Amino acid sequence: NKGNYEHYMQKEIHEQPESLKTTMRGRLIRGGSCKAKTVLLGGLKDHFKTIRRSRRIVFIGCGTSYNAALAARPILEELSGVPVTMEIASDLLDRQGPIYREDTAVFVSQSGETADTLQALEYALENGALCVGITNTVGSAIARHTHCGVHINAGAEIGVASTKAYTSQIVVMAMLALAIGGDTISSQTRREAIIDGLFDLPNKVREVLNLDQEMKDLAKLLIAEQSLLMFGRGYNYATALEGALKVKEVALMHSEGILAGEMKHGPLALVDENLPIIVIATRDSCFSKQQSVIQQLHARKGRVIVMCSKGEAVSVCPGGLGRVIEVPHVEDCLQPVINVVPLQLLAYHLTVLRGYNVDQPRNLAKSVTTQ
Ligand code: UD1
Ligand code: M6R
Repeated sequence: NKGNYEHYMQKEIHEQPESLKTTMRGRLIRGGSCKAKTVLLGGLKDHFKTIRRSRRIVFIGCGTSYNAALAARPILEELSGVPVTMEIASDLLDRQGPIYREDTAVFVSQSGETADTLQALEYALENGALCVGITNTVGSAIARHTHCGVHINAGAEIGVASTKAYTSQIVVMAMLALAIGGDTISSQTRREAIIDGLFDLPNKVREVLNLDQEMKDLAKLLIAEQSLLMFGRGYNYATALEGALKVKEVALMHSEGILAGEMKHGPLALVDENLPIIVIATRDSCFSKQQSVIQQLHARKGRVIVMCSKGEAVSVCPGGLGRVIEVPHVEDCLQPVINVVPLQLLAYHLTVLRGYNVDQPRNLAKSVTTQ
C-alpha cells in the first residue's frame, strides 16, 4: 500500500523517521535512577564476549548493504578496538579470501536471500567463523543460517532501490559498536553523545526531508546530464558510494562515488565546467580536507555542488561559488544517515523527471537470488 505516495521508493524515503524509531525501539535505554544510557541487542547478548575477543570483524554484503557496513566501519573500529575489514560477498568468493575461526563475520542483507551473501555465509561457516546476521527479513535464509544476529525491523521494503533499510542498517551497526565497546570512563562522553544523537535522529531525518522541493529543483537542473560524480571521505565515503548507486540504478544516469582522498590520483582529470560534482563536506574531522578539495575543484572551474552543515554555506563556498545543500548537523558517526537522504530524494526526482520506472528499474530485481 503506497498510501498518499506515488511510488514505494518515495514512500520509503519519507517514512524513515518512523522506520528508524522502530529499529531502535526497546534497544536504546536512557534514564533510570543512575541515568545509565545503554544499548540492548537481544539477539547478540550471549555472543558479545566472543565478538570482543575475535581477531577481527569482517563485514560482508552486496550493493547498498555493503555501503551501510562501510558507513558504520569507522565507529565500530573506534569503539570496539577490534580491526574491521570489508568484503563484497562475490569478491570474497572469487578470491576464496581468508576467513578464520577467530573471525566474527557479519552478514548484512536487507532481504536475507541474496545469493552471493548467502554463499559467502556458507563459506564462512565452513571456515569456522562466528557468523552474525543483520537482516530485515525474519525467517530469511541469512537470518536462519547465521549463529546469531539483529533484525533491523525497518518494515517491508518494496522499492528495488534500498532506502529505509540503508539508514536502519547503519543505526543497527552504530548500536552494535556501542554494545561491543566497553563502557570505559574515557569513552563515556562519546558514547552518551552517540546515544543522545540516536534518540534525536528521527527528528533530524524529518528535518532533512524538508529538502524535498530543493532536491526536485536540483534534479531539474541535472536532468539531461550524462554523468554525476559524488566525492566523500571518512564517515561519508559510503554516502558518496550509496548516493551514486541510487542515481545509477533508478535514474539510469552514470554516477560514481569517489573517495575524495583519491581525487588527485585520477578523477581530477575529469573535471571541467560541465561535469556536475557533489562534494560532501559536512562538519567532522575531515572538514578542512574537504574544503581544500572544493578549492581545487573551483581552481579547475569545476561545477561543484556542496553538501554542508546548516549555516556553513559561507565556509564551503567562499564568494558564493556554486550551489549548496545544507543539512542538519548530528554526531559524526550518525551523519551518514542524514546525508544520504537528500541524495535519495535527488535520485527519486531525477528518475521521475527522466520518465523511468522508479520501483522496478530496468534489468534489476529486489532480491538477487542467482549468481
Ligand atoms: C526479539 C523478538 C521480538 C521481541 C523481542 C522481545 C523475533 C524475531 N524478535 O527481538 O519480536 O519483541 O525479542 O525481547 O522474534 N538472528 C539471527 N540472524 C539474523 C537476525 C537475527 O540469528 O540475521 C537471531 C538473533 O540472534 C535472535 C533472533 O534471531 O536470537 C531474534 O533477533 P532480533 O529480532 O534482532 O532479537 P530481539 O531484538 O531481541
Ligand atoms: O537484500 P540485500 O541487502 O542483500 O541486497 C543487496 C543488493 O542487491 C541491494 O542492496 C542492491 O544493491 C539494491 N538494489 C540497492 O538499492
